[in-house]
Amino acid sequence: MEPAELVQASGSDKTRRDFLKTGILAVSGIISAAAVYPIIRLALHTTPPAPPVFVDAVLLSDMPEAGVRRIDLSLEKDGRPDARVFVKRTPDGNIIALSAVCSHLGCIVNYDRIKDQFVCPCHGGRYDGNGKNISGPPPAPLTRLPVRIAGAYIQVGIRKPPV
Ligand code: FES
Repeated sequence: MEPAELVQASGSDKTRRDFLKTGILAVSGIISAAAVYPIIRLALHTTPPAPPVFVDAVLLSDMPEAGVRRIDLSLEKDGRPDARVFVKRTPDGNIIALSAVCSHLGCIVNYDRIKDQFVCPCHGGRYDGNGKNISGPPPAPLTRLPVRIAGAYIQVGIRKPPV
């Protein structure tokens, strides 16, 4: 075989190899996209949260002038609590509601009346009187819940826990 024929054969092989490479890359790209698409779609699929349901929490007349009431709230009549909350009258007279669930690993916090702090019994996390995380492992404040006055009651807005 002459050297010129060898060069010509090599060029043809190279073109075929490039074509095969491109084809393989295209097919693997399509397969990868097909595999990743459902994951991305699931990650981006966000359903807006259901609006809170306001539940009678405490009689306005039973709310201390300064202090906190811990209340278990239930959306159903089965009595199982759907939310454990603190209802608190702040020094300026406003009423706030905080979830009692620690933002670290979900233990139920207690209220330290002397220090006006919420304290987690599990790992010693502390929150100030407004629920702001101030020491220990909690990465975020206690969740603030909506509050409204309806007749004689202080109502707190809670959501059904995800099933
Ligand atoms: S669960 Fe509350 S500090 Fe860890």
